[in-house]
Amino acid sequence: MDTYCVFGHPIEHSKSPWIHARFAQLTGQSLQYHKTRVPLDGFAHTVHAFQVSGGKGCNVTLPFKTEAAALATRCSPRVSLAQACNTLKFDGAEIYGDNTDGLGLVNDLVRNAGFSLRGKSVLLIGAGGAAAGVLGPLLCEKPRSIWVVNRTPEKAIQLVQAHNSLALAEGVDCQAFGLQHERVSSQAFDMVINASSSSLHQGALPVPASVLSQHGMACDLMYGPAAQGFMQWATDHGTLARDGLGMLVEQAAESFHLWRGVRPPTAPVLSDLRALMAQA
Ligand code: ATR
Repeated sequence: MDTYCVFGHPIEHSKSPWIHARFAQLTGQSLQYHKTRVPLDGFAHTVHAFQVSGGKGCNVTLPFKTEAAALATRCSPRVSLAQACNTLKFDGAEIYGDNTDGLGLVNDLVRNAGFSLRGKSVLLIGAGGAAAGVLGPLLCEKPRSIWVVNRTPEKAIQLVQAHNSLALAEGVDCQAFGLQHERVSSQAFDMVINASSSSLHQGALPVPASVLSQHGMACDLMYGPAAQGFMQWATDHGTLARDGLGMLVEQAAESFHLWRGVRPPTAPVLSDLRALMAQA
């Protein structure tokens, strides 16, 4: 039976095996999918051993996404832009790398939440790996603007610079600022996306509530307890809040499609996963 795996550190709480088992069931595909905790200095070795043992592909999560991009012998333009990779597909000696995180986010916002990004103003908080993974696909939705804000403004500037050509081609006003810049705090955005790890660290929310719009949406890329602080803050200020659980299911669906050539239905998987997590 074809075998897949998710590699990360930590990995114990990964929902990916459950999600891919449901996709396999719903599409009638025969496969197995495991999770493996990888030593921090053992990523390349672990992936090569899995490939040699007959593995067909893998997902990669923190903190190995940059290493995965370097390991790929061929990669999608999304990986080149993000310098991060969450999906590897093995084909003989070739390791093809893709990044499905951004597509997963866009699919969740546009299809599942019914929020079109075209012509809208977007505030992206954070400039680390998570933000890098989603900026390209967000630009491709042709919003009016995407402003990237980060605690360390230099990192936001670098991220925006790396996406300059794409932003120009898509006609998007893409700029970088520090978290407290007055041009940011003096306007409300249609979509506010938290791609910083501030919720995870239960740190103070990184931007003032003035950025939220009552007609807009606020989305944290995290899910479960890690997303609660940001979502509560948005809800308290009258803005529709969304967590990253839909993105998790949608990015998995894109990986599944890359590996199997079949697009799994995501709506029943997302609602079952939400119910499962609420029980837990
Ligand atoms: P990930 O891969 O999850 O994005 P990362 O690459 O370490 O992780 O990036 C974490 C992001 O969260 C960064 O943008 C970081 O800001 P800095 O670049 O200034 O470090 C941001 N971040 C982490 N803790 C934060 C906090 N308490 N307030 C605001 N931003 C925070």
